[in-house]
Amino acid sequence: MSKVLAFGASSSKKSINKKFAIYVANCIPNAEINVIDLNDYEMPIYSIDKEEKNGIPELAYRFKEHFKNSDAVIISFAEHNASYTSAFKNIFDWISRIDKNIWHNKPMFLLATSTGGNGAVIVLEAAFSRISRRNDNHISTFSLPNFYQKFDDTNGITDPDLKISFESKLNEFISKI
Ligand SMILES: Cc1cc2nc3c(=O)[nH]c(=O)nc-3n(C[C@H](O)[C@H](O)[C@H](O)COP(=O)(O)O)c2cc1C
Repeated sequence: MSKVLAFGASSSKKSINKKFAIYVANCIPNAEINVIDLNDYEMPIYSIDKEEKNGIPELAYRFKEHFKNSDAVIISFAEHNASYTSAFKNIFDWISRIDKNIWHNKPMFLLATSTGGNGAVIVLEAAFSRISRRNDNHISTFSLPNFYQKFDDTNGITDPDLKISFESKLNEFISKI
């Protein structure tokens, strides 16, 4: 049984990205799924001054442990002003100060969805570009635009073309776990 870490890179209680990440995790056969919520890892806004004064918060180490203890990771990124949400970026900044092996080299499936037509591709590309520099393992990506029109709880992705493209990426990811 593979241990799969999944979360939405959003702090919204109604996060569509959290929902999407959980949906995708449930598509992985024989997986033990560990869903985490960024609200449980809220820390002071990163600054070098705070780090020098108080060190790196314990929560940053705990967040990173989830990656270490997983066989594969699924993250679905919300896009805020063409970038990461503040909640994710703050955690990223803190964990990047622990050591260079930020993501523990696990196979990753990086996703993004939004309510609009661009499917949060800007943040997805930024995340892939940055994370792939520090993670030698396989990384698949997939963006789902217009979440409320193209996804439902019963059928998952409802758009036929997007479903085909998603399943191809999903199988690619599964083959690397
Ligand atoms: C401050 C803010 C900025 C946003 N900026 C973008 C954006 O740049 N691109 C986009 O596609 N959606 C943007 N949105 C809309 C989000 O994609 C939408 O709220 C989505 O539901 C966020 O995902 P979540 O529900 O997982 O948090 C923004 C929303 C907020 C609140």
